[in-house]
Amino acid sequence: MGRRSTAELGDRMTKNVVVAMANLRLVFGLLSSVLLVVSCVEDRHTALRSPQTPRRQFPEGVPSSVAPLVSRHQLRLDNGLASTPPMGWNSWNHFACNVNETVIFETGLAAKGYKYINLDDCWAALQRDSQGNLLARATTFPSGIKALADYVHSKGLKLGIYSDAGYYTCASQPGSLGHETQDAQTFASWEIDYLKYDNCFTDGTKPEYRYPVMRDALNKTGRPIFFSMCEWGIDSPATWANNVGNSWRTTGDITDDWNSMVGIVELNNVWADYAAPGGWNDPDMLEVGNGGMTVEEYRSHFSLWALMKAPLLIGCDVRNIGAEILEILANEEVIAVNQDPLGVQGKRVRMDGFSGLEVWSGPLSSGRVVLLLWNRSSESANITARWSDMGIPNDTLLTVRDLWKHETISEAEMYEICQEVPSHGVKMFILTPVSQIYLKRESYSHKMD
Ligand code: GLA
Repeated sequence: MGRRSTAELGDRMTKNVVVAMANLRLVFGLLSSVLLVVSCVEDRHTALRSPQTPRRQFPEGVPSSVAPLVSRHQLRLDNGLASTPPMGWNSWNHFACNVNETVIFETGLAAKGYKYINLDDCWAALQRDSQGNLLARATTFPSGIKALADYVHSKGLKLGIYSDAGYYTCASQPGSLGHETQDAQTFASWEIDYLKYDNCFTDGTKPEYRYPVMRDALNKTGRPIFFSMCEWGIDSPATWANNVGNSWRTTGDITDDWNSMVGIVELNNVWADYAAPGGWNDPDMLEVGNGGMTVEEYRSHFSLWALMKAPLLIGCDVRNIGAEILEILANEEVIAVNQDPLGVQGKRVRMDGFSGLEVWSGPLSSGRVVLLLWNRSSESANITARWSDMGIPNDTLLTVRDLWKHETISEAEMYEICQEVPSHGVKMFILTPVSQIYLKRESYSHKMD
């Protein structure tokens, strides 16, 4: 099959984008506006392969109850990526095997930091070529993956691809088991930036043995390729994968419904202390905008993923989303929690029995704290979070910023916050200490009186 030139492809795709954009009501459209502020540090030569376990530096005042117990990163994929969780778009949750290059180009989502455009399963031909190389599927990717990568790069974005640590992928394209070096070289020659690596049709050996083979093959290419491990949490990857990948799935596949999302949050929360810059727990891609949950539920889903420092990989058809969904995916204040440079996964700090009323929290840079009130119950309810739930001294004066209302609550002396939270909804805040020292001095002088 002859490949079209990049220029031809670019022209054709530009036309497609223009047509698609005409139908968009919202800002998400033009590919040129997707050019994103990239917060990841991608200097592969500065990082890693340190024989020492680097200790995470917490700023003073980070409450110990929400700080992780251990700092574990030692050897790791030698690519210097993932200083913050990856953000982008993945084809699977919405398009599954109906992905094609037109869809990819039209997915010129303009969002605030979503830079990876990731092909999932079904991009490859069912047979390798006579030299054993992977090939793009001729019917759906006639231009080839290198041309796609060139186009994506020309828009300031990055291209991700998908393979499997088994003989076949889950949808039966060739897997990379036994072909790791060759496939990693192929991906590097196509200038791929991200590899999702699945776990179907294996030889029965443990993921601990199969995944490092691809890690080493990627390292050998010399190209920084984000390594997204997808072994579904079956072998507790959080406990060993920080040496292997930039992220690791902690659960099976998400589906677009409330119970699936809630179950995944529970499973992912178990591993909170193992996430850190360079390697993140991955509770699977976002379902926001796919239609199976209410807007309130999607707001919870997105807030929890942000707080848990999960990869923010949009999984919907961004050409067809409404204003409310766009507002969720583009909420810069919530995204900033996810991309906070401190890189500590937030977790549940309090739940009131089986009421479904929960308080989640985690430290952020500059001594700030993120607070999430989550109502899992079927009725609207008041949820109270005490500063002590988050290890903050009661006399701490804080500013409280509502990340969904985009309002700052007054600096009144408070030691708790109580808010009505709708059923299946959240309220999300950043707490910023303003004058702890002043208050301490005052209470000291009262004692002296
Ligand atoms: C597995 C993965 C999914 C998706 C499909 C593709 O189920 O967990 O995320 O990649 O395979 O076949």
